[in-house]
Amino acid sequence: MTEQDNTPQGPVLVVGGAGYIGSHTVRLLEARGVETIVADNLSTGYRSAVTGTFEEVDIGDREAMDRVFAEHKPRSVIHFAAKCYVGESVENPSKYYRENVCYTWTLLEAMRAAGCEEIVFSSSCATYGNPVEVPMPDTHPQNPISPYGRTKLHMEHMMEDYATAYGMRTAALRYFNAAGAHPDGDLGEAHDPETHLIPLVLQVALGQREKILVFGDTYDTPDGTCIRDYIHVLDLGDAHLRALALLQSGRDRIACNLGTGDGYSVLELIESARRVTGHPIPFEIVGPRAGDPPRLISGGTRAKAELGWEAKHSSLDNILADAWRYHQKESAGA
Ligand code: UFG
Repeated sequence: MTEQDNTPQGPVLVVGGAGYIGSHTVRLLEARGVETIVADNLSTGYRSAVTGTFEEVDIGDREAMDRVFAEHKPRSVIHFAAKCYVGESVENPSKYYRENVCYTWTLLEAMRAAGCEEIVFSSSCATYGNPVEVPMPDTHPQNPISPYGRTKLHMEHMMEDYATAYGMRTAALRYFNAAGAHPDGDLGEAHDPETHLIPLVLQVALGQREKILVFGDTYDTPDGTCIRDYIHVLDLGDAHLRALALLQSGRDRIACNLGTGDGYSVLELIESARRVTGHPIPFEIVGPRAGDPPRLISGGTRAKAELGWEAKHSSLDNILADAWRYHQKESAGA
């Protein structure tokens, strides 16, 4: 398959395109000359992350979305707009059902009304729940254990039903741990509050935090700390382009994992970050965080077989080097 085969036709409406993974995907689309429109309510995204056409709208606002579809006439949609904190979803499920499930319903209705038929969206390995098998195949049973994971599964089911009933074409991409940053150093991961391991570890390297707290060291893993499959945000973005191009060529459904198949423990990651940054990175072992499975590693083969996708930027050192460049630049500009 050539790059042209893997390049979707525009215009593409990217909802949540001012956020972490969305903004990187928009960069890739723009680099291939695909016309994009970003729609984002900036609840967690950054206006500065968007260089092209921007609409500050809420996808839950049907009238505003109807206007966006009428004005820009997108051929297809890539949907990143969602809340993504497992812990917060346990404390405030209402927000997750409203913003992830209800807002997605509104988006799908606006798409139907506009005759827009293709959508690629961010699902998650959190839809699987506790692994019954590691590495986890694309066919792993989906029994989510958090409201966050359940809302992502509802979104998958909604889109499958719309595909069956209304001829929509849909791709659910189940990410493992999104990580890394644009090699230019001007786009990266900046959540507020930050809860993810890599940005926190790099904040320690920058002296912005005294130490990293390691959540548990008595898991059933070789060093006792949790193992995750970290996937570079540029590799995630590339998979979205491929999935959308495939839907546009007539494929009606795609559901697949996006991970590398390699797992690293929290302690291994800290060690790699010490090497990449040249800073000592002190840590302290504390109790486990509720709901953290010991090992999450992708065993999926569909992304390669169906999308021709392979992770190219996702060695742990490359992920850390790109994230480090971004964090250094951010801290110098702050
Ligand atoms: N961790 C620490 N200390 C910290 C932060 C994290 O030890 O300060 C550990 C966690 O316990 C976990 C690992 O580092 O073992 C990675 O944690 P992250 O918070 O970076 O990522 P998660 O694996 O919890 O979450 C990711 C996505 C979620 C998704 C989830 C699926 O960010 O959106 O995977 O399980 F839901």
